[in-house]
Amino acid sequence: MDKTIIGIDLGTTTTEVAVFRNQKAEMILNFNGSVVTPSVVGLDESGNMIVGEKARARYILEPERTAIEVKRKIGSGQPVRLGGETFSTMELSSFLLAYTRRYASQYLEEEITRAVISVPAYFDDIQRQEIVEAGKKAGFTVERLINEPTAAAMSYGIQHMEEESHILVYDLGGGTFDVTLLEMFDGVLEVKASSGDNCLGGKDFDERLIGWLCERFEEKHGVKLSKDVYAMARLKEEAEKCKIALSTQEEVMIQIPMLAEKDHVPLALEERISRGQFEELIADLIERTHRPMNVVLADSGVGRDELAMVLLVGGSTRVPLVSRDLEAFLGIKPVTEVHPDYCVAQGAAICAAMIAGELGEDGGLVMTDVNPYTLGIRTADYDDNDIMSVIIPRNVTIPVTRSDTFCTMYPGQRTVEVQVYQGESETASENHFLGNFLMEGIPENWREREKLDIAFTYNINGMLQVEATVVSTGKKANLTIDLMNAENGVEVRKDVSGWREAECSSAYRSVIRRAEKRLQSGTAEEKESIIILEDLLYRLKEAILEENELLADEIADDLEELLENPEK
Ligand SMILES: Nc1ncnc2c1ncn2[C@@H]1O[C@H](COP(=O)(O)OP(=O)(O)OP(=O)(O)O)[C@@H](O)[C@H]1O
Ligand SMILES: [Mg+2]
Repeated sequence: MDKTIIGIDLGTTTTEVAVFRNQKAEMILNFNGSVVTPSVVGLDESGNMIVGEKARARYILEPERTAIEVKRKIGSGQPVRLGGETFSTMELSSFLLAYTRRYASQYLEEEITRAVISVPAYFDDIQRQEIVEAGKKAGFTVERLINEPTAAAMSYGIQHMEEESHILVYDLGGGTFDVTLLEMFDGVLEVKASSGDNCLGGKDFDERLIGWLCERFEEKHGVKLSKDVYAMARLKEEAEKCKIALSTQEEVMIQIPMLAEKDHVPLALEERISRGQFEELIADLIERTHRPMNVVLADSGVGRDELAMVLLVGGSTRVPLVSRDLEAFLGIKPVTEVHPDYCVAQGAAICAAMIAGELGEDGGLVMTDVNPYTLGIRTADYDDNDIMSVIIPRNVTIPVTRSDTFCTMYPGQRTVEVQVYQGESETASENHFLGNFLMEGIPENWREREKLDIAFTYNINGMLQVEATVVSTGKKANLTIDLMNAENGVEVRKDVSGWREAECSSAYRSVIRRAEKRLQSGTAEEKESIIILEDLLYRLKEAILEENELLADEIADDLEELLENPEK
């Protein structure tokens, strides 16, 4: 097997790659000789995929053929249109990852096929699985997913192994916010709790600024810019530049010539903005980081006064208001002891070296992590309410095994369907559905007399094993939900059972009904077309739920065709 494992920080705005060699994490340069690769993918006129700096440079010219900030949509099932073509967020991420694989192979002068990829700590299993799939599609064996703040802490921890303390990692990047509380002692890095917000980052700061500029422009010229994709792309570019400049300057002048037209006269945008004005625009966004911080403090049971250090990670922590707000909130001055842009990739590379056995037990760091979301099963009470029965609460150190006992509800009940969910709602169906299985052969008995033991084991790679045991007979049934090898386990999919309640046209209802009938009457010989049918049916319901009419129409057409010509 190829030996070298690289570490990849696949960010919302930028992507970095590192490798551990000569006893340190070294950043890998891309084809342009830079460490930082924009996380941008575009489709050129001839249908070729362009990735990185080139794609970013084309964004203002070809906004409709360019995808930026794809990571924000991961796990949503929302397709992305580039030119006339539709791509999934998984595919777009795989183009980015394939690009890193090519430049890392060139830089290291060997064919690279193994990687540790970092993900926001607050990603759920559905989002994590999408990253693993994208990695595979890009030609990688994904050795592990590591949580971004944990990776950042590792790149700090490896140089400070003798210290003992509680560290809070505050990671505010382009699109996601993560906060993690760790304890360090004797070279052991123990994650105590993680929380965050998957939709909070520098992108949102840019959008506030864009909104403000659009308002001013409309006031002055009576022209609305929001529908003009070209103008919006230029605004995005300038707003980000302005935001970055305001991190060091007190005031910035934004000038965009020929941004729009009115009565065939070109209009320019000219605005002056001070740091104070910008801070007002984003103050509530920064305040949104407080709740996740309170969650990690409460879940870990660590008091503010016990924090030895607040480590800043991610490009958006360069906004001066972030440090001021943190100091006021936690009573401790945050530090940038690690490189805010490189440390996540470096930590992933350190993790890769541990997997490759290059960082021995003695010289190395021991690391533990936590599960960011609660795991449980759906149960019902006598009013048939749908309840999330917690088996593994969030922020428990992993790997972990926990179990609980449940009993039958009806007299003579012989089967129980075990449905596994992930999330914080007390109503199971509001959480993410991960998988299910049927426990059969329960002895007939009075209600509540038969007991079922349900045990969950969750490992560091996000693999969840669920085992059900009938207490009276010892009969077992189980389910493995394996993020890293989805095809071996049950596929992790969203619960689409709510499609009926969603507004949907009768044409969809009719095709769904016919497809479901067909599924029930299907024979073993038709296995292949049945699998395709099942998949289309699922995707149609999902598209209806997401109100994606374009996609739903497309899938409904495919379904119709398959129902008419099942042999094809
Ligand atoms: N000097 C600066 N001042 C303010 N913002 C900055 C500065 N430098 C970079 N940024 C912002 O930081 C963000 C990118 O940060 P980073 O590269 O850490 O994010 P990412 O890793 O791509 O995203 P994520 O971790 O959220 O997936 C962008 O929104 C960028 O505009
Ligand atoms: Mg990042």
